[in-house]
Amino acid sequence: MAVTVVVGTQWGDEGKAKVIDLLAASHAIVARYQGGHNAGHTVVIGDQKYALQLTPSGVFYDTVTPVIGNGVVVDLPTLFAEIDSLESRGISTDRLKVSSLAHLIFPWHQAIDAALEAGRGEAKIGTTLKGIGPAYVDKVRRSGIRVGEVMHLGAFEEKLRARAIAANIELADMGATPVDVDAVVKNFVQLAQRLAPYVADTVNLLHDARERGEAILLEGAQATFLDVDHGTYPYVTSSNPVSGGAAVGSGLGPRHIDRVVGIAKAYTTRVGMGPFPSELTNELGDALVEIGREFGTVTGRRRRTGWLDTVMLRHATRVNSLTDIALTKLDVLDTFDEVKVCVAYRINGEVVRQYPDTVERLAEVEPVYETLPGWKSSTEGITSFDALPESARALVAIVERETGIPVSMVGTGPSRDAMVVRS
Ligand code: GDP
Ligand code: IMO
Ligand code: MG
Repeated sequence: MAVTVVVGTQWGDEGKAKVIDLLAASHAIVARYQGGHNAGHTVVIGDQKYALQLTPSGVFYDTVTPVIGNGVVVDLPTLFAEIDSLESRGISTDRLKVSSLAHLIFPWHQAIDAALEAGRGEAKIGTTLKGIGPAYVDKVRRSGIRVGEVMHLGAFEEKLRARAIAANIELADMGATPVDVDAVVKNFVQLAQRLAPYVADTVNLLHDARERGEAILLEGAQATFLDVDHGTYPYVTSSNPVSGGAAVGSGLGPRHIDRVVGIAKAYTTRVGMGPFPSELTNELGDALVEIGREFGTVTGRRRRTGWLDTVMLRHATRVNSLTDIALTKLDVLDTFDEVKVCVAYRINGEVVRQYPDTVERLAEVEPVYETLPGWKSSTEGITSFDALPESARALVAIVERETGIPVSMVGTGPSRDAMVVRS
């Protein structure tokens, strides 16, 4: 498979990075295509755990070129902190390329994000406060500053100062604290100089690699139901994590994408606000948090938890044209007496199998469950499908029946090799 997209099928944190790390061994390039440092991608190699926010999860292989694609919004302080941290742990970041077309995040984006959230009161989204939404607003209203502009430092500095002054007017209007223009300009001119060696025409780089027959992995951040178009708007992020976004955010056209792997947890989690039909607000939900260690990688927030929802997975299969699914964190369910799977919704007494098109309707649905007996035995580290307990295999079968596509991988632990890979 020449070009593969890895995409989240729920509300994020499905274990995308672990799957990318596993697949990266047979790929020449791993490229992020949207989002920014709102992502928290965990890779566990032996006794070492790495939490990445911007660096593509293929960085651990010296055979892989990690690429930050044009669709990403880049926070330079985070990028360099991550590079320094990886280097200090013996991971080389020399091959990293950052698209000249990607947009930069500045401190005023974070200040605006915080002011907007404060203004929403009860209706807040629960963003990561990383400035992601405001940075994409600047991109779309054509006042953003792009990575390639750091190659012309004089013009970059001038534009940076003008943008900082304009942002302060906006912040004052919102009743928020302005940024220190001189300090921001000084800091970002230095960061711009440090960025210069990484800047590349990644669109042509990806096409050249593909034409040479090299395999490319496109790494999604966030997920289908956080997508600004297809997610639970307004409780979403400001980019397109769906596979169509991988074409836009990398510059590889839709016909160049050969495989789309959807990552789904064997249950469901969500950080931040918004509807969640299969949510468990009882002790079972607490058990999922405890056993699954469901605390945000980036913000440390407790994730909301619930049963697996195949109505969502069916919709994710459609909008991403998924070819196969990786079902992760199966081992987290090992001790449960029973395991439920939502297979339909009940709305006003009517049973529907189709995902509703408005967040208001979604908020009204009642999940219809299929219940499996718990397998009550450890699946940790299992790598063969036949070695999984019968009830766990039945769970996989429900996912395949409801989505109509194969489950190609099953996660049985955080580490790189704790995975059933079915050929
Ligand atoms: P991502 O944002 O989709 O890359 O996922 P995160 O890294 O935010 O969250 C997934 C968490 O689950 C991380 O702590 C992973 O180490 C862990 N994880 C991934 N796959 C498995 C699995 O199969 N079993 C268990 N127990 N943990 C897993
Ligand atoms: P990964 O890539 C889970 C959520 C936030 C909030 C909403 C909007 O690790 O799966 P934003 O800061 O993007 O404007 O916040 O989206 N969110 C995530 N939730 N995993 C993520 O990334 C997320 N990135 C953003 O919690 O509800
Ligand atoms: Mg995450």
